[in-house]
Amino acid sequence: MWTSTPGLVFLSVLFFYGCKSASGFVCPRICRCFSNTIRCNNVTEGSALMMGQRDKRLFLYQLSFNTISSHSFEDLTGVQRIEITQSVTLETIETLAFNNLPSLTEISIQNTRSLMHIGHKAFNSLPKLRYMSISNTGIRVFPDITSVNSLETEFILDICDNLYLQEIPPNAFTGVTKEYITMNLYNNGIREIHDYAFNGTKIDKLVLKNNRNLRVLHRDTFKGATGPGVLDISATALTKLPSQGLESVLVLLAQSAYALKSLPPLQGLWSLREAHLTYNSHCCALLSLNRNRDSLINPAWKNDSTYCDESDPSARVQQVLGGSADTPLLMDVPFFSAVNLFVKEEDFGDVNFHYPELDFCQTQPALVCTPEADAFNPCEDIAGFSFLRVAIWFINILAIAGNLTVLLVIFTSRNKLTVPRFLMCHLAFADLCIGIYLLMIATVDLRTRGYYSQHAIEWQTGPGCSIAGFLSVFGGELSVYTLCTITLERWHTITNALQIERRLVLTQAVTIMAAGWLICLGMGMLPLVGVSSYTKVSMCLPMDIETPLAQAFIIIILLFNVGAFVVVCVCYVLIYLAVNNPEFPGRSTADTKIAKRMAVLIFTDFLCMAPISFFAISAAFKVPLITVTNSKILLVLFFPINSCANPFVYAIFTKAFRKDAYQLMSAMGCCKSKASVYRMKAYSSEKAIRNNLRSNIKNTTQE
Ligand SMILES: *[C@@H]1O[C@H](CO)[C@@H](O)[C@H](O)[C@H]1NC(C)=O
Ligand SMILES: *[C@@H]1O[C@H](CO)[C@@H](O)[C@H](O)[C@H]1NC(C)=O
Ligand SMILES: *[C@@H]1O[C@H](CO)[C@@H](O)[C@H](O)[C@H]1NC(C)=O
Repeated sequence: MWTSTPGLVFLSVLFFYGCKSASGFVCPRICRCFSNTIRCNNVTEGSALMMGQRDKRLFLYQLSFNTISSHSFEDLTGVQRIEITQSVTLETIETLAFNNLPSLTEISIQNTRSLMHIGHKAFNSLPKLRYMSISNTGIRVFPDITSVNSLETEFILDICDNLYLQEIPPNAFTGVTKEYITMNLYNNGIREIHDYAFNGTKIDKLVLKNNRNLRVLHRDTFKGATGPGVLDISATALTKLPSQGLESVLVLLAQSAYALKSLPPLQGLWSLREAHLTYNSHCCALLSLNRNRDSLINPAWKNDSTYCDESDPSARVQQVLGGSADTPLLMDVPFFSAVNLFVKEEDFGDVNFHYPELDFCQTQPALVCTPEADAFNPCEDIAGFSFLRVAIWFINILAIAGNLTVLLVIFTSRNKLTVPRFLMCHLAFADLCIGIYLLMIATVDLRTRGYYSQHAIEWQTGPGCSIAGFLSVFGGELSVYTLCTITLERWHTITNALQIERRLVLTQAVTIMAAGWLICLGMGMLPLVGVSSYTKVSMCLPMDIETPLAQAFIIIILLFNVGAFVVVCVCYVLIYLAVNNPEFPGRSTADTKIAKRMAVLIFTDFLCMAPISFFAISAAFKVPLITVTNSKILLVLFFPINSCANPFVYAIFTKAFRKDAYQLMSAMGCCKSKASVYRMKAYSSEKAIRNNLRSNIKNTTQE
């Protein structure tokens, strides 16, 4: 008796002075701490109990050593929680470090940035464990937690903020618990989850969000697992979901998962009741597929009804998954294989059998999906109406053929390159861009007809849409700019009719067009580098006005177009006045003809301007003047009018052009007689023209 007293005194001295290390680490009363390790087992617990001390919670922070060795925490009967935190020196947790702790319900190892190694079976035989957290550590290998063997229901596992943790190997969770488990695996560096990673577990909820490098879920990732009921892959880099193993997913969260451009496989997601996705067109596709599926399975489900349980989704999942834990689970019943997904009606009874909740409600709950279709992305094909589909083909073929002809003739012409010809060449090129843009849109529309929303994101965020959008803006603006330049040149030529030396020379024209190219290239590029964007609508036009910069961009385009239109109008009025001036040399009776022609030009210009202005105004001020569906009519029918009309109005219908064309044809061996006749005519008219300056207006400026 007497001899044991100094021992106890020694122990208390040790406790009060020896165990308090300089770093601030406090040794728990039921443990014994040494310079390089800690020991907490039934022996140390027993001696602490003799002093009337009993800890249910071990809180270890700022550990002063780098290893938690084997059997450090063993056979403790009273301890329910162990927390190890804020320990920068801790590097290793050895095999069987936490062994056989029958009362332990929670264990958390957090904020130990140097912790690299967690030994095999480090967490062994923890039957009451309900919560486990390994967060914000330096581990690179997935910790072995397969010998936890918890018997608790509703196990929660947190493995978060481990930035160096890159993979989840096969069978990583086998043996954690036989019951349902919630896995929060967010904010890790996980890149890849292997086949059979969840083998042998029942997953209630699997949160993989914020694993920003997570690109691959292998096809058999969920093989051998039950669930998950809730799957959260928000803010990951996943490009697609596995086609198998998602049969029991009721709630899918995939917000800010921008790489997930292809539609989640609905065939595999047939339990899906709630989806919160990144792209609204995916919702379009899911909802429409779901409608078809429900009505095919049972017509009584056509009338979507409210779901019986309006509580939060995870509770609902618990209810459904947990409730059916004893019965064979739905996903084990192979009645919805990909082949007979929609046809086997007789198997439908099984659903009610396994889902008592649904049985009670008697109806299929409606699928909820966000984000819903918005003004920019209505659930429809690119060409919303079928007449547009026809029109868009007609117009693009006309534009491409007309402008190619003009380019071909001008390039092969043996005549001297004059300023008007030079400008015409640019105009045709710009209009050809619009034609190609329309051709691209029309082709994609034809290929995705009837199910565009399934492909919407792949198209809109892909390179095709960027190229098309660039062509539309670049071509549209270059066309406007060139038209403006052509008109100015004509006006300049007419007002300086008598002073040949003051006319525009080719080098000046080249400079002006070079500036135009730079401006238009810039305008086309801006949406590609983040000012507005081409990805917003199916037509690939820059309709994104979320930022003030994007709004300014749209307003500048608007001002550019309106400015050009005003210049064209003013020039024509001035030309008309000049021509009608009695003092103007060589005034003739062709005035009305010229006036008519100008009216046509201004009118087509205006028609072409109208939709752009509509959009720009509507977009710039965020006032929906017109829906996207209706805007397509304007865009398809009016936007390219100039591109179709320009080659005819400015080139093909002019005498100079026809002369070139006949020369080309005669060179190719046909229409020889016509060409020579024309050459005669052209020659004589040329003579006449020299005396008639008004013909400048008709763009027959052959000096
Ligand atoms: C501590 O636990 C071990 C293994 O469970 C057991 O053999 C031993 O008797 C226990 N010691 C005390 C003092 O309870
Ligand atoms: C899946 O787990 C079971 C036991 O739970 C095991 O027998 C099987 O080998 C595992 N499959 C793979 C591919 O690891
Ligand atoms: C669905 O609703 C419509 C009208 O609300 C009703 O006429 C029809 O009978 C309903 N169908 C079923 C199968 O309940």
